[in-house]
Amino acid sequence: MSQTPFEQAGSFRIGVVDFISPDEVKVAIDIEAPDSVALNTGGPRPFPRVNGYLLVPVDDGFLVGQIEWITVERSPFPKRRGMQDFGLVDLPYPLRRLRMNPLGILREAEDEEKYVFRRGADSLPSVGTSVMLPTEPQLRSIVESGERRRVKIGTSPLAGDAQVCVDPDRLFGRHLAVLGNTGSGKSCSVAGLIRWSLEQATKAGTDGPPNARFIVLDPNGEYSRAFGGDNTIKPRIFKVDPAEGETALKVPLWFWNSAEWCSFTQASARTQRPLLRRALREIKSGRTDITASNEDEKQLALRRFLTSCLISVQRDLYSGALRTDESKFGFRLKAMADDLDAKMPEYSDNHLAEVRDAINEALDATYNSFEKDGKTIEYYRAFTEAQVQTIAAALQSAVESVGGIVYQEGPDEDVPLFFHGTDLADHLEVLASQENVSQYLDFLVARIRTFLSNPRMKAVVADTDGITLDRWLNDYIGADVAANGRVSVVDLSLVPTEVVHVVTAVIARMTFEALQRYVKLNDATLPTVLVMEEAHTFIKRYKEDVENQDAATVCCQVFERIAREGRKFGLGLVLSSQRPSELSPTVLSQCNSYLLHRISNDRDQQLVHRLVPDNLRGLLRELPSLPSQTAILLGWATELPVLVKINDLPKSQQPRSDDPDFWDVWVGSSKDGTPVSRTANWQGIAADWQAGAASDSGAAAEPVE
Ligand SMILES: Nc1ncnc2c1ncn2[C@@H]1O[C@H](COP(=O)(O)OP(=O)(O)OP(=O)(O)O)[C@@H](O)[C@H]1O
Ligand SMILES: [Mg+2]
Repeated sequence: MSQTPFEQAGSFRIGVVDFISPDEVKVAIDIEAPDSVALNTGGPRPFPRVNGYLLVPVDDGFLVGQIEWITVERSPFPKRRGMQDFGLVDLPYPLRRLRMNPLGILREAEDEEKYVFRRGADSLPSVGTSVMLPTEPQLRSIVESGERRRVKIGTSPLAGDAQVCVDPDRLFGRHLAVLGNTGSGKSCSVAGLIRWSLEQATKAGTDGPPNARFIVLDPNGEYSRAFGGDNTIKPRIFKVDPAEGETALKVPLWFWNSAEWCSFTQASARTQRPLLRRALREIKSGRTDITASNEDEKQLALRRFLTSCLISVQRDLYSGALRTDESKFGFRLKAMADDLDAKMPEYSDNHLAEVRDAINEALDATYNSFEKDGKTIEYYRAFTEAQVQTIAAALQSAVESVGGIVYQEGPDEDVPLFFHGTDLADHLEVLASQENVSQYLDFLVARIRTFLSNPRMKAVVADTDGITLDRWLNDYIGADVAANGRVSVVDLSLVPTEVVHVVTAVIARMTFEALQRYVKLNDATLPTVLVMEEAHTFIKRYKEDVENQDAATVCCQVFERIAREGRKFGLGLVLSSQRPSELSPTVLSQCNSYLLHRISNDRDQQLVHRLVPDNLRGLLRELPSLPSQTAILLGWATELPVLVKINDLPKSQQPRSDDPDFWDVWVGSSKDGTPVSRTANWQGIAADWQAGAASDSGAAAEPVE
């Protein structure tokens, strides 16, 4: 039986509009409208449920609304259509009502059976207009709206399994937050988004594999196996203790900027940080050439030493310290002379002897001592300017003989220039004695030295032979045309906890700054995506506090900067977290797209609610009840918020995060009858554990049978 369009429209009707405002439409549902499945529409159609879509005819199309709630009101006088007979008394009857949010307008396209959906409602219906169920093609057009639908990520169960597609430009371009409880499917979604994007790009590409760059910071070591398989992705895996085919994770300490050094060493703001900065600057100055032979390095160390002596003496000379603070100045000179004595045998340079003699002569002339309470008190009398001038002149010629002053201001202390960690500690000690602040710096120096002697740390940050800045960028961000693969997986799971925040911060910052420089030199961006898993530990909200600049704060600040400015330099951020309420609000509010999995925690839900515009909050009420692998996608990446059932990711492509199989292990076999056995091999574990510890303390490992 064929229906006229008018009749057909009538059969989809489920109620009438009885309240309308720009952000809310309330509908009284017809009494005879079906309860769960509509059979009067030519085929079984699910009756609208929460978050489903409905249509209201307006001037030039349909207003599309998304259902926020459906309720029953006990109405004393229901108005059954066609039955308003005053002689009849209706018994109280449940009247159903629903509320929906206007989303946009659906218009018929040129060719038949096709519709075009646009966000925003420019015309609104009036009360009394009928409300209809959309047809299958209408539903599809709503969900499948938007122009550049490039990558299919799943289907929409509420819209007749319409395909949900995204445009990577939008999804990654303005940061994406993937939020949800543990086990809700975040990691699978992230791995899927990367994989499907790359697969699609490979198909669309004309010139070989995609020139794409993803960097996955993976604190749980889940992703190493997720990207294997074919050649589309070709992951590079960086890891402490790499297996075959993986690369050792290296984040050289000379990449760290001063804030990272300060946070790591817990330097105090007033005394230690300025000195640490100065030490970094000085040690980096003149150190651009790491291929320099040992001889050159020694020469440079001497140059640096003499330069700092000269500067110190000159400063004292001009500040008048040799008269007002003569005794201190004397001891400073004495320390300098001792240092020179110690260095003398290494250098057969008679300029050094001249300096030492000049200093000793001045010291001898001013030295004095007296006895008090059985102790000898030593002190120096005021120096004459001539004495100090002689010393300065001797230093000057010594400096010149070894190649001139090492430029003290040097490069910025944050430029990644090569130096050895031990040199930094040495230099700090020299500075401390020069400035007479050893008591403030001892702890700092000791901490750096301890850290450098720990083999687990050393392996990541100090044993970085042969690593140059460009090689590192090539390895971690990706080579030209992504020839060495398209995804870097940085497995942070075995990085010692003391440095894991600094290491993460450094990788993120280096990526960001490299891309910034790329834009400066090429006048175009190199699109790159940085993925941060378990973001609540690395992008954790912190208290603004100058004193407390711990590593977690510094790490969070790097991501805040990326969230704010990354877009301009082609760096997109994808963060995945179970605890959105613990995330930095700055980062979260800079995310323009959200993929929300099940969220049951109260505070997390409240937070997510605050992120979305008012009229979408209804949609989010579904969050606590979402099954795993299902999520709500909203924001910039999608024309309208949709509920997506994410594509299936085969086991072999999933990040490793299986739920523990208690039952199968307990009963010794799995559901399909395959035996499951777990042996508890503590000996092997103990040996593995202690092998690390033994070399930590430098002791020989106990022999293991
Ligand atoms: N798209 C998918 N395809 C197939 N299986 C999925 C998918 N999404 C989720 N799963 C299933 O759900 C399980 C948990 O998913 P996943 O590891 O992604 O959760 P998660 O949210 O990252 O959890 P956590 O916060 O603990 O890391 C997976 O082991 C997998 O079996
Ligand atoms: Mg996960």
